[in-house]
Amino acid sequence: MDLKSVIRTIPDYPKKGIMFRDITTLLTDARGFRRAVDELVQPLAGQKIDKVAGIEARGFILGGAIAHQLSVGFVPIRKKGKLPYKTIAESYELEYGVDEVEIHVDAVEKGDRILLVDDLIATGGTAGAAIKLLERAGGEVMLCSFVVDLPDLGGADKLRALGKKVTALVEYE
Ligand code: PRP
Ligand code: ADE
Repeated sequence: MDLKSVIRTIPDYPKKGIMFRDITTLLTDARGFRRAVDELVQPLAGQKIDKVAGIEARGFILGGAIAHQLSVGFVPIRKKGKLPYKTIAESYELEYGVDEVEIHVDAVEKGDRILLVDDLIATGGTAGAAIKLLERAGGEVMLCSFVVDLPDLGGADKLRALGKKVTALVEYE
């Protein structure tokens, strides 16, 4: 099965000129969802990890399923102002705006080996901020997994230049 066949493209969302890659159709498709979860963890090849961290919002769905599959804990990386306890934050630029991500100060233990998951990487701003947060908290990001990479925006290469291992299941120009 071709994962692209279950990913929908919405032109001009949320702004004119953006081709929005909508993975909700992949999630609705039982085989697509299972396949994506299986493939997102494959580069770990049996390597032990301690936690999965997922980026709000669609990274929660994929990351939660992966954490369950690997029997490890899940760390939600949330947009500013959503977490109830003490947080640490990093701001970042988006393809279409500026935002800030946060985790709880005690979400990561020193030395935790972490798999970072999101649905898509574009400029890498969001994932870059997420890595900084997780590593400031004492974790080590072992692999960054995305369903979709937009390579023209350079995000995956930016993470690789930081020495991170990156995997993506499909690419769109
Ligand atoms: C999307 C996507 C990534 C981010 C990638 O989230 O789910 O988190 O953009 O862009 P970047 O690589 O340029 O940082 P979005 O900002 O649409 O937020 P949402 O998941 O809360 O809708
Ligand atoms: N986040 C940033 N760019 C995106 C795109 N083109 N589709 C879906 N999510 C995105």
